[in-house]
Amino acid sequence: MGKRALIFLSVFFLSILIPFGQKGAKGGTDYVGTESCKGCHEDTYKGFLKSVHGKKAISGSPMNREGCEACHGPGAQHAEKGGGRGVDIFAFGKKVDAKEKTAKCLACHGESKPLVFWDMSRHRSVQVSCDHCHSVHSAAVKEKNLRAREPDLCYSCHRDIRVKANKQSRHPINEGKIRCNDCHNPHGAFSTKLVKADSVNELCYRCHSEKRGPFMWPHPPVEENCLNCHVTHGSNHSKLLTHKVPQLCQSCHNWRGHPGTIYTGFETFQGTATAGKNRMFARSCLNCHSNIHGSNGPSARGKTFVR
Ligand code: HEC
Ligand code: HEC
Ligand code: HEC
Ligand code: HEC
Ligand code: HEC
Ligand code: HEC
Ligand code: HEC
Ligand code: HEC
Ligand code: HEC
Ligand code: HEC
Repeated sequence: MGKRALIFLSVFFLSILIPFGQKGAKGGTDYVGTESCKGCHEDTYKGFLKSVHGKKAISGSPMNREGCEACHGPGAQHAEKGGGRGVDIFAFGKKVDAKEKTAKCLACHGESKPLVFWDMSRHRSVQVSCDHCHSVHSAAVKEKNLRAREPDLCYSCHRDIRVKANKQSRHPINEGKIRCNDCHNPHGAFSTKLVKADSVNELCYRCHSEKRGPFMWPHPPVEENCLNCHVTHGSNHSKLLTHKVPQLCQSCHNWRGHPGTIYTGFETFQGTATAGKNRMFARSCLNCHSNIHGSNGPSARGKTFVR
């Protein structure tokens, strides 16, 4: 059997199968060229020329050769029938399978650097597709084809994060000083939770490098994971802490050396610097243990992160 016959047969069977496919996802089989689309979709055409895709359609690229049909697929049948919704053209409607929509974009962007971990992305596995965040024809952020600005784009689905980012202590996301994208890659990342670093600590050190040390007296939970004591988006406790001090410290340290209430024995409060001092004072652990992330102080004081 010749190659042409094979193609004919597969097209024939496809055309039988297509009606059972996802509604709205079906396209035609023959290309007709952008000039034809322009005739009926003039406004869309004009808008497209001003978009990133329109402007950056480098000569020789598929975008240049196939134009509108690079994303919408072959449109000859659509054009012949006078167009219309659901008529032989691939549209990016809500009912169309996310994987199919994504495949259209990945045909060109699959090799782009920010997208190399797309396959592992949580967004992909929960059926979020490129067009949920990007719009080709009516982008609010033109240069990146984004539907809306950050953080509103992300908040449209992540309402809980919006609530957190409004808490008393927070990363200044709403103030515009830091973006979701500074910490996450929405397209996927090698680490968990789409975090843009090998580990949480590596991420934090990028902006809070002084917390990396090296310290002569490191505090083990700090080196282990900043999230032992902090949350990332927002907290009702100061400095993004998971718990108030002293509860935070006491979740790991016992009370023996430092009674924190008036009900415990006075005499158990040990050490020369603290002997005989007001017991209630001990609740503000940070008044004395101020170098909580680690210390380079002389041995006795440094070891216990005391000023
Ligand atoms: C003869 C006129 C005509 C031509 C030529 C034409 N279209 Fe259409 N197209 C229409 C009409 C009419 C609609 C329905 C618009 C509406 O309801 O708002 C439509 C709808 C669409 C839709 C939305 C489909 C849906 O299911 O929601 C897309 C995408 C589309 N056209 C792309 C194209 C592309 C790409 C080309 C060129 C390959 C093209 N059209 C050529 C008339 C045409
Ligand atoms: C880079 C991919 C891409 C190219 C190229 C492209 N489109 Fe689209 N088109 C989309 C996506 C994605 C949507 C879904 C709506 C959106 O994201 O803006 C869409 C939606 C549409 C719609 C439906 C709008 C509606 O109201 O439902 C029409 C009509 C359309 N495109 C026509 C065209 C025409 C005409 C061209 C060429 C001038 C073209 N498109 C080029 C990706 C593309
Ligand atoms: C036919 C190839 C092709 C297809 C299909 C395609 N793109 Fe593009 N896209 C390009 C080219 C070429 C550029 C310009 C590249 C550049 O500047 O590096 C571009 C640019 C972009 C940009 C801006 C990149 C930047 O660096 O600022 C985004 C975002 C984007 N495309 C998203 C999409 C989405 C979403 C789809 C699917 C709806 C899609 N593209 C489909 C070829 C394509
Ligand atoms: C959850 C939202 C979201 C999804 C889903 C998404 N993107 Fe993006 N994309 C973004 C944001 C936000 C940016 C802007 C990044 C920046 O400004 O640093 C972006 C940037 C890009 C860029 C430009 C890269 C750069 O660093 O300049 C390309 C290309 C792109 N996206 C393509 C895609 C493709 C293709 C898909 C589908 C496989 C997709 N995106 C899915 C949110 C998303
Ligand atoms: C300062 C860095 C940073 C910024 C800015 C940031 N995140 Fe996160 N985010 C993280 C880290 C780190 C985690 C992982 C927490 C973990 O591993 O438990 C995370 C986790 C998440 C999760 C998973 C669920 C959860 O609550 O743990 C979502 C969803 C999320 N972030 C969305 C967002 C959105 C949306 C924005 C912007 C409004 C944003 N993040 C801004 C660092 C950040
Ligand atoms: C169309 C809706 C939608 C948009 C827009 C969206 N997300 Fe998501 N995102 C989701 C869903 C659904 C999940 C999975 C939720 C879950 O696992 O509970 C998710 C999960 C995440 C996670 C956790 C990933 C993991 O591995 O658990 C992060 C981080 C995240 N999104 C960041 C972002 C950022 C940053 C933006 C904006 C650039 C954004 N999202 C925009 C729907 C969206
Ligand atoms: C992209 C840069 C960036 C990254 C990454 C980052 N931060 Fe921040 N962080 C900031 C900025 C900006 C502020 C606000 C500083 C200011 O207002 O002076 C801040 C403030 C804080 C504060 C003080 C909050 C307050 O209420 O005063 C804590 C605690 C904090 N970050 C912890 C972390 C932790 C933990 C991580 C890692 C999960 C992290 N940061 C990652 C930029 C970053
Ligand atoms: C053992 C608990 C603990 C761990 C783990 C921890 N922190 Fe903190 N962090 C604190 C406490 C307590 C404060 C409040 C200090 C104050 O109010 O003087 C704080 C304050 C901060 C601040 C704001 C004030 C300042 O010192 O700049 C930043 C930024 C910060 N931490 C970053 C980090 C980073 C980055 C990590 C991981 C490398 C980390 N923290 C790990 C307990 C911890
Ligand atoms: C997640 C658990 C954890 C939390 C929370 C925590 N620590 Fe620690 N801390 C440790 C560990 C583990 C060590 C090392 C213990 C050792 O070497 O015996 C340590 C060591 C110390 C030391 C030095 C002890 C010594 O004998 O050298 C001091 C002082 C200290 N922490 C104070 C605090 C204070 C104050 C807080 C609250 C702001 C706090 N820690 C929160 C786990 C924690
Ligand atoms: C008035 C100052 C002061 C306050 C307040 C204080 N500490 Fe201390 N702490 C010290 C000094 C000084 C040492 C060293 C004691 C020594 O060498 O005998 C020490 C030692 C420690 C040690 C290591 C020795 C041991 O007893 O296990 C831990 C852990 C510790 N403090 C935790 C805390 C916690 C948790 C709080 C808050 C509930 C707190 N401290 C409040 C001054 C203070």
